[in-house]
Amino acid sequence: MDNRGCFITLEGGEGVGKTTQLRKLADRLRLETNREIIPTRSPGGTVIAESIRDILKQRNREEDLLPESELLLFGVCHSQMSEKLIRPALARGAILLSDRFTDSTLVYQGYARGLSADFVRQINSFSCRGLKPDLTILLDLDPETGFRRTGLRAGNAENMQEDRFDSESMEFHQKVRNGFLAIAAMEAERFVIIDASGSIEEVHQHIWETVRAKLGLL
Ligand code: TMP
Repeated sequence: MDNRGCFITLEGGEGVGKTTQLRKLADRLRLETNREIIPTRSPGGTVIAESIRDILKQRNREEDLLPESELLLFGVCHSQMSEKLIRPALARGAILLSDRFTDSTLVYQGYARGLSADFVRQINSFSCRGLKPDLTILLDLDPETGFRRTGLRAGNAENMQEDRFDSESMEFHQKVRNGFLAIAAMEAERFVIIDASGSIEEVHQHIWETVRAKLGLL
């Protein structure tokens, strides 16, 4: 890994605990290394990407966001993130932790929405100029359990006013889970799959062992 930084992503469906686990991992890395630690998220992480996040997440009652538009907007977010945040941080030797990145695009817009997976791969590669995470941790959980944890119900009309993704059907979220497992199998050298059904501490410990081995920490 030389002096270059390390880019680690956390992926998975709704309610798997990515956000909590990312925070805990960042805290532990700050405690146990003297490296610069940058937590971020997708969509988001830069000023422009954060404002696009609102368009992507919130249901607009006056105008539907088309799947094609959605894909392109995620591409914009990943482009801004890669060039404005991730590459400069990696050049400084930082450890970047991202709550989702382009694997979510392949799974949500490709596998779940049904856009061509090959085309989504091309958009991902184009928007990030080929940047890929060094390590991707997939937190795997049955979506029914994930939704129970968030207190939301898939396909619930109440969520609809709020979040475009949470309000998708359970079938959509099953496709997301299966899609993540399929791409993890295709890139087994980059992905580590962790069972997210355990307690917060158990899952954290598993993530910590994985990251520690990747960074070569004793
Ligand atoms: P979250 O920050 O709560 O995980 O919300 C982000 C939502 O956006 C989540 O439902 C997954 C979705 N998403 C995509 O559909 N494609 C993508 O490329 C990314 C990064 C997220």
